[in-house]
Amino acid sequence: MKGFLEIIMVGEGREKTLHQQRSGKVTKKIRVGVIFGGRSSEHEVSLTSASCVLEAIDRSKYDVVPIGITKKGKWLVGDNVLELLSSQATEEGKAIQDSPTPVSLLPTPRGGNLISIDPKEGVGNKGQAIGHIDVVFPVLHGTYGEDGAIQGLLELADLPYVGAGITGSAVAMDKAMAKAVFAAEGLPQLPYVTLFRSEWEENPKVAEEAVGKIGYPCFVKPASLGSSVGISKVREPGELQEALNEAAIYDRKFVIEKDAGNAREVECSVLGNDEPIPSIPGEIVPSREFYDYVAKYHDSASELIIPARITAKTTEKIQELAVQAFRALDLAGMARVDFFVDKNTERIYINEINSIPGFTPISMYPKLWEASGIPYARLIDRLIELAIERHQDKGRNMTSFAPGEAR
Ligand SMILES: Nc1ncnc2c1ncn2[C@@H]1O[C@H](COP(=O)(O)OP(=O)(O)O)[C@@H](O)[C@H]1O
Ligand SMILES: [Mg+2]
Repeated sequence: MKGFLEIIMVGEGREKTLHQQRSGKVTKKIRVGVIFGGRSSEHEVSLTSASCVLEAIDRSKYDVVPIGITKKGKWLVGDNVLELLSSQATEEGKAIQDSPTPVSLLPTPRGGNLISIDPKEGVGNKGQAIGHIDVVFPVLHGTYGEDGAIQGLLELADLPYVGAGITGSAVAMDKAMAKAVFAAEGLPQLPYVTLFRSEWEENPKVAEEAVGKIGYPCFVKPASLGSSVGISKVREPGELQEALNEAAIYDRKFVIEKDAGNAREVECSVLGNDEPIPSIPGEIVPSREFYDYVAKYHDSASELIIPARITAKTTEKIQELAVQAFRALDLAGMARVDFFVDKNTERIYINEINSIPGFTPISMYPKLWEASGIPYARLIDRLIELAIERHQDKGRNMTSFAPGEAR
């Protein structure tokens, strides 16, 4: 495990040593931009995760720049931004007036500067750099935060950031794409069918035909959402239409999947870049029929059981599959890999991968690391280290090519 020693970054042509712990002197703290909120149905979940990260992050090592994105996509910076977004005073106007500074991050390589903007005129002539960022921790879930969108901006800006890159984020977010990769990789999963909203709208029979292949009960899911938003369990044909109507609110693509039946929901955390490690697996016992939004966030009766109640052999297999899935999707930093394990046969099916899992100290991802020997604050450190390592590794790649030129 590489430490902070000798991490050299190049910023605006200057070389600076961020941490010089070897000499005992810390010359400069790493400035971490913690981004939260966002234009996503998981906005509120992100605020909860971010409040915990902001509280636990080691301020002796890091200068923290909280960056909140409103539900309409405006970026705000300042110490009270989390409070503002949490108070739901953000529906335009109000938060903008109250907030310290509306900002933007320009996609200029090696800039890393937040630029203050006029909410009406954009950057205009008034744009001023108001703070340099060394590394970004996107504590965002779902659309635009976990799907490669913000990762694309951070790549253009050439900033290190926690978590998966564009491809891994995009594929993990899209359940249909992730399933195709799992299938290509030979990972075990339940029978499923992918449908486009447009083909279903044109010919509603395609949905019945699709379910005909897998049978009832089944689950209908929007392909690219999280937190169980838009997901329904369909027990019989009469419920199918409503489930599809619900999914159609959120996405242009659906996944219909066979019910796992009498199964445990087992989750495994993964940490690392090219050589990721798995945690002890844990188990979710939903308080409701399945782990829907209410069971996840509003009902304290849902239980997390660590370690999962599975045999040592199944534990090992889950850990192996979790790492295999992480690598197959080219993920980085962190991910939580979710499985179903049949209670009778212990047969394992991979369900999905979350590239930015819930991150409160009582969320499964950090809890599994805590149980595996990495406490919450240390986990944040490690994720920042991994972000910087990955950025340095990527920095080795040439971005120009002149045939015949000496290397
Ligand atoms: N095939 C399935 N069989 C049984 N339960 C399922 C199935 N698919 C989803 N669920 C239930 O719905 C929850 C949410 O589905 P999931 O695919 O994990 O979507 P999300 O990305 O919203 O978490 C799961 O945690 C589980 O409780
Ligand atoms: Mg899930």
